[in-house]
Amino acid sequence: MPLDARLRHRLAALDAQGLRRELPEITHREGVHYRLAGKPVVGFCSNDYLGLAQSIAPVDAPSGAASSRLVCGDLAPHREAERRLARLAGHEDAVLFPSGFQLNVGVLPSILSSEDIVFSDALNHASIIDGLRLGSAQREILPHGSAPPRDGRVGGGGLRWWVTESVFSMDGDVAPATALRAALDDGFCLYMDDAHGFGLFDGGRGWPQAHGITPTLYVGTLSKALGCAGAFVAGSATACTWIRTRARSFVFSTGTSPRVAESIVHGLDLLTGEVGENARARLRSNLAHLARALRLPSTPTSPVVPIVLGDNERSVRVAEDLLEHGWHVQAIRPPTVPVGAARLRLTLSAAHTHAQIDGLVCALRDVLGASDRAFLGSTAP
Ligand SMILES: Cc1ncc(COP(=O)(O)O)c(C=O)c1O
Repeated sequence: MPLDARLRHRLAALDAQGLRRELPEITHREGVHYRLAGKPVVGFCSNDYLGLAQSIAPVDAPSGAASSRLVCGDLAPHREAERRLARLAGHEDAVLFPSGFQLNVGVLPSILSSEDIVFSDALNHASIIDGLRLGSAQREILPHGSAPPRDGRVGGGGLRWWVTESVFSMDGDVAPATALRAALDDGFCLYMDDAHGFGLFDGGRGWPQAHGITPTLYVGTLSKALGCAGAFVAGSATACTWIRTRARSFVFSTGTSPRVAESIVHGLDLLTGEVGENARARLRSNLAHLARALRLPSTPTSPVVPIVLGDNERSVRVAEDLLEHGWHVQAIRPPTVPVGAARLRLTLSAAHTHAQIDGLVCALRDVLGASDRAFLGSTAP
């Protein structure tokens, strides 16, 4: 069968399951306002949690690194960004990658060995899953939110790893802090992907620092709260030297654009200064406002607030209905979330106003059926 015929057949099968995906056609973006296929909307689905994506000043560094950092692509903005990120994360060193996906699929296989055992949360991001699949360590999948067994040793000098997100990207809930501290005391190595926590805590720090946890390797992305692009892994000087030498997606790939690296440095000035503090305060206020508007029992622990509807087509229909009202909330379907757990993934930003949050909540009440309104707090009318 020719390739196009095969792919048309596969796309038709996805259509039948409500799993076809299309790129949203966005223009004229200013903060949370943009046009979607020409229609003006307010977005409630980006990861620009602090509203910084529009604030980072243009820079005039070269657009391309021209080669792998190890050949001739290692420029001053890369080194400056890594120095600042290591200090902020509280580690000796940090390594910058062009994206978080590229980081996880390169770093994990480079550091794991066949004697190691890895305990990985069931809801970890696809890039972590793929990184572990590329590695040679034995893997055990932990039920979401649970801890690995505390006893048990690994033979042959192997290490025990706990690999987890801090703030889970699609559920907005967090890893069990007390169990993480206990595991570190028990000698576990901790690989923590803080993509959705980095920048949201005091001084622009991440979730583990705010919870007294020092991961063995800490991963932060620079495309979410920092509003830019790329990711970094922070750890000991030795671990970072190893990653620069052996992580295949670092060694065999052109370095991060120097323009992006310089934007990251500017983004860090904003994140760690008054702009960041004010944005974090506005985000907290918005989360408290959302909780009141939805009559939730408590304020959400992160800017990610899922409304799980289950059915793929229904999730897409509800998202389309919201769009009619001028609110863009993306429907998230498998394989991004487990089968039967399709949802609206609502995200809040410091850039939203209380009036916009009220408007969205009002529209949600309009478009959700009576049974689905249960998701909007037990006493919602
Ligand atoms: C937990 C987690 N890790 C890694 C990534 C990948 O990061 P990037 O978008 O920089 O590729 C994401 C993306 O959303 C994520 O949620």
